Amino acid sequence: MTTLFEPTRLGDIALANRIVMAPLTRNRAQAGNVPGPLTVEYYRQRASAGLIIAEATQISPMGQGYLDTPGIHSPEQVAGWRKVTDAVHAGGGRIVLQLWHVGRISHSSLLPDGAQPVSSSAHRPNAKTFTREGFVDTSAPRALRDDEIPDLIEDYRRAAVNAIEAGFDGVEVHAANNYLLDQFMRDSVNDRSGPYGGSIANRTRLVVDIMKSVAGAIGAARTGIRLSPVTTFNDTPRDSDPQALYGHLIRELAPLGLAFVHMIEGETGGARAPADLVTPFDYAALKQSFAGGWIVNNGYDAPTATKVVADGAADAVAFGRPFISNPDLVRRLRENAPLNPLRAELLYGGGAEGYTDYPALP
Ligand SMILES: Cc1cc2nc3c(=O)[nH]c(=O)nc-3n(C[C@H](O)[C@H](O)[C@H](O)COP(=O)(O)O)c2cc1C
Repeated sequence: MTTLFEPTRLGDIALANRIVMAPLTRNRAQAGNVPGPLTVEYYRQRASAGLIIAEATQISPMGQGYLDTPGIHSPEQVAGWRKVTDAVHAGGGRIVLQLWHVGRISHSSLLPDGAQPVSSSAHRPNAKTFTREGFVDTSAPRALRDDEIPDLIEDYRRAAVNAIEAGFDGVEVHAANNYLLDQFMRDSVNDRSGPYGGSIANRTRLVVDIMKSVAGAIGAARTGIRLSPVTTFNDTPRDSDPQALYGHLIRELAPLGLAFVHMIEGETGGARAPADLVTPFDYAALKQSFAGGWIVNNGYDAPTATKVVADGAADAVAFGRPFISNPDLVRRLRENAPLNPLRAELLYGGGAEGYTDYPALP
């Protein structure tokens, strides 16, 4: 029976164990959205994870949606991340970067020259974001023109190349939690006509093109994707047929030979089986059409994570909140040690408190 503590491979990425640190936005980037010394220390402390998926990181200035989130589009950002990856590698860990474009979950004050956020369509969600002025309503988005899509794909490709230059072992394209790529995939948002709207094949085209471009640039075996087929996070209703939509996407991605799919099961950070979901989502059906690595996430603890790996239903399990408050989560799971409680008021922004001051076991 496979345990959480056995090594595995996700494409070319060799993991010492199957416990993954989920991507976690902490809003502690420094001037220029550059990760600083505290961020180096934060990830260094967590290097015993089999794999760290570093926090969502904007691929371009237009991809930003919250204050003080890091980027991977400037030389200074690449240099800042290089210190993080060096520290994790020195600790024997592996780390990939989550590539992010928020789409309509943004505010003009965060965007170049006060620009309008961009999305598949000009529908404003009833969502808030965090700016220098505190929590504010997101700004009304505009629909990207078809002739702007090639530049967007190029931004993802270049960000992936920058991530490799910064020493990452690979990238995870963020196609979850209703940011830009979900805004294209879901018919609850996307009402475009043309090559990126209408049919499921058209709505998934952008994601598939991005995955091909990124995999072509850095290697499919270093490229993964994160999905959340039924989450309504960010005030975004589900697609009218999530099973068909994400099933089609996985079948399109399967031939690329990607390193992994990272699946958020249920409502991100909430119910694994949402009560309002009439037909339960069949994740196993998606896994069946994908030969690469399969990471699962959302509300796992030691017994449920142990079981999903033992059953062969996943290759690895990602932990989010438990990794924030337990830098040595792998050891604690192995030794069945108690976990530190999370200080939720210190999640977003600030300094060392609630970031690098959670104690490891003596
Ligand atoms: C503080 C915080 C920040 C998060 N930031 C991200 C992020 O940057 N990218 C992402 O895909 N998910 C993000 N999530 C979602 C987590 O990766 C994860 O899916 C969620 O916490 C559920 O896993 P858990 O039950 O193990 O915490 C975030 C969650 C929290 C609590």
